[in-house]
This record gives sequence, structure tokens and C-alpha cells, in this order.
Amino acid sequence: MHLGRTTLSKFLIQQLQDAGDQGKLAALLVDVAAAVKAISAMTAKGALGGFLGAIDSHNVQGEQQKKLDVLANDAMVASTEWGGLVAGLASEELDDPYVIPEGFPRGPYLLIFDPLDGSSNTDVNVSVGTIFSVLRHDSAEQPVVGDYLQPGTRQVAAGYAIYGPATMLVLSVGKGTHGFTLDREIGNFILTHPNLAIPEDTSEFAINTSNARFWEPPVHRYVTECQAGKAGERGRDFNMRWIASMVAEVHRILMRGGVFMYPKDTKDPSKPGRLRLMYEANPIAMLIEQAGGAASTGRQRLTELRPEQLHQRVPVILGSKNEVLRIERYHAEHASGHDRPYDSPLFNERSLFRAREFN
Ligand code: F6P
Repeated sequence: MHLGRTTLSKFLIQQLQDAGDQGKLAALLVDVAAAVKAISAMTAKGALGGFLGAIDSHNVQGEQQKKLDVLANDAMVASTEWGGLVAGLASEELDDPYVIPEGFPRGPYLLIFDPLDGSSNTDVNVSVGTIFSVLRHDSAEQPVVGDYLQPGTRQVAAGYAIYGPATMLVLSVGKGTHGFTLDREIGNFILTHPNLAIPEDTSEFAINTSNARFWEPPVHRYVTECQAGKAGERGRDFNMRWIASMVAEVHRILMRGGVFMYPKDTKDPSKPGRLRLMYEANPIAMLIEQAGGAASTGRQRLTELRPEQLHQRVPVILGSKNEVLRIERYHAEHASGHDRPYDSPLFNERSLFRAREFN
């Protein structure tokens, strides 16, 4: 037992001590952590818990819900609705914002979350996570959908839990990004990764290459250059990873750098991206930026987007700053017709990546 260790509560009290009613923010994050511990216990039981598999219902995205999606959602609601800290909740698993029941006081925050991101991975025992975003609601009125539609720059806190070999909570209240590891024996989150810093440069990228035929030219250009390695434009070899669990992907990037892309594509023209702005992209973008990285749609900073819908999807490109800036530059060059595909030997007539892809 190490008595001097920094627990989550101690850390939050220290980080938020001089800031008005932010004691309430610390209390809310401790309630979120309580839900995370419950979800961690459920996911860790695997097949023994009887929680695996799908149920006969779909969420607002049309995705079939897993038992664990619903249980994780219920854990987040039960842990946070009662204490007078939140004015309302919104979840990936709920079509509309959750109204705090009569009898519970309302508080100054809106909590938006994806209770179990990457939940298709639970059946195959791959890491999944919970993502959350906290916004202010400075009104005594019951919040309506419009109150939730604040840009990511307005987040007062954001974080995720990753249920991997160890359960970790990674969060930011706007003063850096910090990682805590769950000590299962004493039931506390302990600060193990203070002040995470993403290296500005990287030689590792993550993208689902099965979608390559649907990508836009700037993304093709970037990935092709990475794949060409030492022999190509970049002059060095790159490594690729794809776990299909955003939290696991982002965690790797926070630990050792890298770039993650789920870009705009033409697979389903009704969807401008795969990931959801309010409870996936924005909170993760805050954590990445607070760790010195960058987060973009390819065309603009993610957290500056003005949300239009609670469940809106966005293109996401984030991670090591210099790579994200490079991909943004490729988008800008393409938009202005300055990406000159013919100038590079990789993109000339004889290459696999024919000029028609760049028109
Ligand atoms: O939002 C859901 C999610 O599971 C992310 O966690 C992950 O990055 C992505 O979808 C994986 O998508 P795909 O199955 O298309 O690779």
C-alpha cells in the first residue's frame, strides 16, 4: 500500500481548488469515475457475466445495441443523475437528452457520453472504453437540445476510460491531460501518467484501409506517402495500426504518438464521417490538444465546429501535431488545386494511384 499516492479525488481537489463552484465539477468527475468502475467490473467478467451479445434494439444511429451498451448507459445515468451536479445528460444510446427526474436537484453541468465506445469489440475481448464531455448550463431552466450544441472549445472537462488489461481513466479539466490507473484492490484511481505529452512527429498512422476506395484525394495522398516509406516522399518507413476501438487507438497515441484518421469518405454520402462529434470527437480532441497534439476535420479545428445535431457525425484526424498539420495542408492544397499529383513520382501516370483519383 502506497499511502502518498495521488488519488483521483485528491488530484481534482488540487486542480480545481481556486475556482468557484468547480468543487461541483470535481464531484461530478468522481461520480463519472464511480460509473467507470462499475462498467470496468462488468466488462472484466467477459462471458462469465452473461453480459455479452446483442439485444433486440437499435440506437438512434441504427446500430444494434449490445447488452453492455445498455448496462453501461444505465451505470452512467444512475451514478450522475441524483446529486444536483448535472442539469441534463445526453448519451449515444439515447435518442433524446435524458431529463433529470423530478425529486433530484439540477446542477450547472451537462454531461454527454458514449457509454461503451467500440462495443462490437466486447465479444472478441478487445479493449473498449467510455468517453465523456462536460459543458456548462448556466440556467435554472430544463436544458433543451440546443443547450447541448456547444462547440468543443466550451468543454470544461473531458475524458475517457479504457477497459484494457488495466482500466485507466484519462481526463482533462483544461490544465493538461492526465492518466489514472484503477487499483482494483483498493478501488481507487491513482495518478500514474501526469501531464501526457504527444510527440509532435510520428511514424505511425491508424486508418481503416478497407475504406481506401472511398477516401478523398488528400487522405489517399497522405497514406500513399506513408506506405511508400523510405523510398518515397517522406523518406522514412511508417508503421500502421487499426484496432477499430477509438479509445484504444487514442490511448496509444497519447502514450507514444501517432496519427488517427476516420476521414470524410464517399461510402455513405448521407454521413460526413463515421464518428460522432459531441461524445466522441470533441472530448477526445480536447484531450489530444491538452497533450500538445492537434485534432481536425481535415478542413478545420474540430473543437471549433458549431454543432447542429446531438448525434451528428464528423470526419476526424488527430494526433501528433506535425502530421495533422500536414494532412490539413494536403486538404487545403487539394481544395485550391495545388496538390499537383503529377509532380511526385508516386502519383504519376505509371503509379498505382492514377491521376483520375485526384480529379
Ligand atoms: O464509433 C465507433 C467505433 O467503434 C470507433 O471506436 C472505431 O474507431 C470505429 O468505430 C471503427 O470503425 P470501423 O469498424 O469502420 O473500422
